[in-house]
Amino acid sequence: MRILILGGDGYLGWPTAMHLTAYGHEVVVVDNYLRRRLCREENIDLLFDVPELPERTAIWQSLSGHKIQVYIGDLVEWDFIAEVFEKFIPEAIVHYAEQPAAPYSMLNRQAATLTLNNNLSVTVNVIFAVREFCPDAHIVKLGTMGEYGTPNVDIEEGWLEVKHKGRRHKFLYPRQASSLYHTTKIMDTDLLWFYVRTWGLRATDLMQGPVYGLFTDENEKHEQLLPFFNYDEIFGTVLNRFVVQAVGGYPLTVYGKGGQTRGYLNIKDTLNCIRLSVDNPADKGELRIFNQFTETFSVNDLAEKVREAGNQLGLKVEIQHVANPRIEAEEHYYHPRHTALLDLGLAPHYLSEGVLVEMMEYVIKYKDQIKHDQIYRKVKWA
Ligand SMILES: NC(=O)c1ccc[n+]([C@@H]2O[C@H](COP(=O)([O-])OP(=O)(O)OC[C@H]3O[C@@H](n4cnc5c(N)ncnc54)[C@H](O)[C@@H]3O)[C@@H](O)[C@H]2O)c1
Repeated sequence: MRILILGGDGYLGWPTAMHLTAYGHEVVVVDNYLRRRLCREENIDLLFDVPELPERTAIWQSLSGHKIQVYIGDLVEWDFIAEVFEKFIPEAIVHYAEQPAAPYSMLNRQAATLTLNNNLSVTVNVIFAVREFCPDAHIVKLGTMGEYGTPNVDIEEGWLEVKHKGRRHKFLYPRQASSLYHTTKIMDTDLLWFYVRTWGLRATDLMQGPVYGLFTDENEKHEQLLPFFNYDEIFGTVLNRFVVQAVGGYPLTVYGKGGQTRGYLNIKDTLNCIRLSVDNPADKGELRIFNQFTETFSVNDLAEKVREAGNQLGLKVEIQHVANPRIEAEEHYYHPRHTALLDLGLAPHYLSEGVLVEMMEYVIKYKDQIKHDQIYRKVKWA
């Protein structure tokens, strides 16, 4: 299949590009290096340097024989995205190209408007490009479990059948985000649903939980094929951050009571979920929503697991409850359904001590590069 990966330089986009070519798909990646630029502007360093796309694709081609074509440009620009679609005519589009960090979106007004303008504009452009150049193509869009918030009832996969005054109707499951970033994801879902209804597009919206990990079957720990690894408060995801904090001798920063529970997944499972979604497309006129995670943990659970894994390596890992900079429930009910991807054949890679130890052993190589002042900057929600 011809697959266009938007955001192909990113933490998830690059491993996805390698993975899909390894499975025989023809892949084009697009990125404008927004993530790298925002890191530079906020004085954030990655744990290790990652080559830009032309170099990474050349290395991947020399090792695997698979070619990935690269376009560098801003998907907010219609002329640019139209050129890419017109030349490639994709059969599936994996849309990762957004500002993905909740803390970044809460930094200040400029960061808020960048997040809003970028995320919604790219999504609208993708929808219009599909309609104009490849109306039968399947849009696979990354949403987030954070769209649902933490309701005091079970979370379904995207939809809720409501009985009201004796009548029934199926609605999008109610959404209630806890950051501006998550709010843009809700708006994306609304945009997709509107155009699926209006133009009969085919779309899959993946409500993904926080991803952890570095290693995939394709990178095999090849240094220059690894994804970005952020450990800072703004762009790092929680488990990746805790692993680096444990190695760097910085107490694990549990926000508030630490009962915040979410659905997590290994980066290997992100790739499998994307491949399964692409290989089994939504019908025309269908918005399919899958909850993309494999197991749930509280922040306290994660901290405890990282401490135990650290002990295996002789690290002395402390856990510190710090004042919560976010506005969120610290103890709550959380029971989200997640069977659709399992039904498609997902075989999860669960979080084990071995997985954590493997990550820590790798991070130890960069121990001296860990900058403590990047770890906890207290980006406040209010
Ligand atoms: N990483 C996670 O744990 C996680 C969890 C849930 C959802 N998601 C979603 O998955 C997607 C990918 O996340 P990620 O962690 O890989 O983020 P990332 O920032 O590493 O990747 C996104 C990529 O898109 C690019 N991009 C953004 N705007 C662009 C534009 N206008 N034009 C061209 N390129 C643009 C960025 O430069 C970046 O390389 C995001 O949509 C994110 O919201 C991620």
